[in-house]
Amino acid sequence: MKREELLQEAFKAMENAYAPYSKYHVGAAILCKDGTVFRGANIENASFGATNCAERSAVFAAYSEGYRKETIEALAIVSDGFRIAAPCGICRQVLSELLEGETPIYLSNGKEEMDTCMNDLLPMQFNGDDVNR
Ligand code: THU
Repeated sequence: MKREELLQEAFKAMENAYAPYSKYHVGAAILCKDGTVFRGANIENASFGATNCAERSAVFAAYSEGYRKETIEALAIVSDGFRIAAPCGICRQVLSELLEGETPIYLSNGKEEMDTCMNDLLPMQFNGDDVNR
């Protein structure tokens, strides 16, 4: 699957966003090395802190089915915002553990695009090495 197709999967995921509060819609799609695609959307809650971001929904779906960072090829994240949505701080922490540092991350809002990876998005990450004494 090509980069453009994975971005299209993320735009399809965005259609399922549940965002009655922010009205900001985000979709994500994870391509696994065996070709399986997992989608995720942002799912909000009236207790705002309980909201789940799209990229966490997608990566948790992949992990729930047994996929791990070694078996993940790429992640696409899209939004309907006026500029590209880079992952929030919580998602950066989560993704830095659940994706390999060099795994490509494609960002788009339908107008602009950018490719990045966790090594660029979260340098000096706090990880398992810090807590496994
Ligand atoms: N959101 C995401 O889904 N991903 C991000 O990386 C940024 C923020 C969602 C959370 C909330 O539903 C809405 O966007 C506004 O913050």
